[in-house]
Amino acid sequence: MNYRHAFHAGNHADVLKHLVLTRLIALLSRKDAPFAYLDSHAGVGLYDLHADEASRTGEYLEGIARLWQATQLPDAVEAYLEVVRAMNPDGVLRYYPGSPELARLLSREQDRLQFNEKHPEDGFLLKDNMRGDRRVAVHRGEGWHVPRALMPTREKRVLLLIDPPFEQPDELQRCVEALNEAHGRMRQAIVAIWYPIKDIGQLERFYRDLHNSAAPKMLRAELYVHAPDDAGRLTGSGLAISNPPWGLEDELRQLLPWLAEALGQSQGGWRLDWLIAEQG
Ligand SMILES: C[S@@+](CC[C@H](N)C(=O)[O-])C[C@H]1O[C@@H](n2cnc3c(N)ncnc32)[C@H](O)[C@@H]1O
Repeated sequence: MNYRHAFHAGNHADVLKHLVLTRLIALLSRKDAPFAYLDSHAGVGLYDLHADEASRTGEYLEGIARLWQATQLPDAVEAYLEVVRAMNPDGVLRYYPGSPELARLLSREQDRLQFNEKHPEDGFLLKDNMRGDRRVAVHRGEGWHVPRALMPTREKRVLLLIDPPFEQPDELQRCVEALNEAHGRMRQAIVAIWYPIKDIGQLERFYRDLHNSAAPKMLRAELYVHAPDDAGRLTGSGLAISNPPWGLEDELRQLLPWLAEALGQSQGGWRLDWLIAEQG
């Protein structure tokens, strides 16, 4: 396990993932009934962008820092940035929330949060960062076992984020297996899988497997910051979201063109479509 998210915190891929996460939680919060949030590969939860790791790569400068400087944000982006602003009250962008902290800050008293991080050091930091919130449980086990270990939840509504580091060649396949396991246990679960866009050819099989998965329906949202190439660099990223709440598709149709404009580097672009269309 070499991957440390601190090097990449706040980059364009984090912005897409966290913005969509913010919207998912906002849409789930329209009903009073509690939901459970599960994060199988949670990271440490909080990042210092001025620390050695993030400042060495400077990736956040082409991500959250661009939004931080933007004027006239769409309302949905405003709500995400509000969280980041609250963490940086002196107006200097320094602290950035990972998915666990975002979910923790945006969820309500009645909701429950279960985070899992396998890296021994990061798992310890996550536990420390989340201490004191009685709604939160931190596990330090195998992320791929999260659907089996934690589902079904006692809450009828659940959002599972699957966000592995993609260090191993089989991780796209394992995402599909985890998705199937999750839907086998809770057909109505919302599962969001984040994936990197490096080599489009490699993703074709993933898309086919998602299409043939146990998800009742699935939306695909992608953001590109470079034109596709075969150099193996990160040209963009995507989220495959099963059972997206009503309203998400419309919101993303407004947001993605704006994001592509705001975050595009050599070339910005986006895609939003159904990998599994709703059954008539
Ligand atoms: C992309 S990062 C997660 C970022 C986080 N979800 C966020 O948005 O802030 C992936 C994390 O998975 C952890 N990890 C790697 N292999 C794992 C495994 N098999 N089970 C659980 N966690 C794992 C890594 O240590 C890393 O912190």
